[in-house]
Amino acid sequence: MTSSLAAVAKAMVAPGKGILAADESSGTIKKRFDAIQVENTEDNRRDYRELLFRSSDAMQNYISGVILYDETIRQKAKDGTPLTKLIEQAGSLPGIKVDAGTKPLPFCPGELITEGLDGLDKRIAEYVKLGAKFAKWRAVIDIGGGKPTHACINANAHALARYAALCVAGGLVPIVEPEVLMDGDHDIETCERVTEWVLKEVYQQLFYARVPLEETILKPNMVIAGKKCPKQASREEVAERTVKVLKRCVPPAVPGIAFLSGGQSDEDATAHLSLMNAIGGLPWGLTFSYGRALQAAPQKAWSGKAENTAAAQKAFAHRARMNGIAALGKWTAAQEKAA
Ligand code: 13P
Repeated sequence: MTSSLAAVAKAMVAPGKGILAADESSGTIKKRFDAIQVENTEDNRRDYRELLFRSSDAMQNYISGVILYDETIRQKAKDGTPLTKLIEQAGSLPGIKVDAGTKPLPFCPGELITEGLDGLDKRIAEYVKLGAKFAKWRAVIDIGGGKPTHACINANAHALARYAALCVAGGLVPIVEPEVLMDGDHDIETCERVTEWVLKEVYQQLFYARVPLEETILKPNMVIAGKKCPKQASREEVAERTVKVLKRCVPPAVPGIAFLSGGQSDEDATAHLSLMNAIGGLPWGLTFSYGRALQAAPQKAWSGKAENTAAAQKAFAHRARMNGIAALGKWTAAQEKAA
């Protein structure tokens, strides 16, 4: 028998659909708004996100769920409709970021631990009442200068497992996100080695915490060279190495894997996802949970002006469609140009 959480997890990775990560904290969205010269006010954050959630073509056809920030899950559209209702009306699922951000990890210079476990059971109960169906917790692993340490990987994997157990117990599907950063100059082999190590530790901790994997989603990085590495791998190599590592580490009981974009260009993020799905025969659904790679284009088109709403929605619908096609393994560069 499929539990209701397992059904939610399956719906999150429904064929041809993926997740919109719109859970930027007020500090992170400020960086995005600064880039388009928009003031970071509550109204502007509302207007921008309302525009996304009212993009009916994108939302109905390609977006299975939206990850929200605490402010957004409580916010109402200009006409008073809760933003979560807009998402539900489009047939999509509201989700919520529940981690409390990162802090320096003592005795591990330059490394971070994600916090937010204290009182998490109560916050989960509140988010369920506010309509959330799933949650997200992001751990960050950096490469370079002796990083990562076992201490950092172990502490973050343990926190992810504690979070995931609390979510399932409280009625939310946990998105388990251990992000190996693509900042730095490391090569793709190093990213592969570290990603495998991190995922092995995460699944060990999920086992120790007795988390039913059928009711979880993994949100990993792709295996990719650091941005500053002079030797960048081909798209095919990124796809092959990523699938290889995932097959080594992620049990088939996990219903779905939804990648972060992590600073890749919009088109790279789409192309990589499509190439992986084209490999075929994978035991899990493989899709996107992109923030920047879905939102950079609409943000630029919007630039804080109400008269640009339709153009921004069009830009969002295009990226959502391209990634929806990629989730089926059928994207081509020609489809980008046709639009
Ligand atoms: P990016 O796709 O911009 O990496 O964001 C995804 C996300 O949710 C990071 O936690």
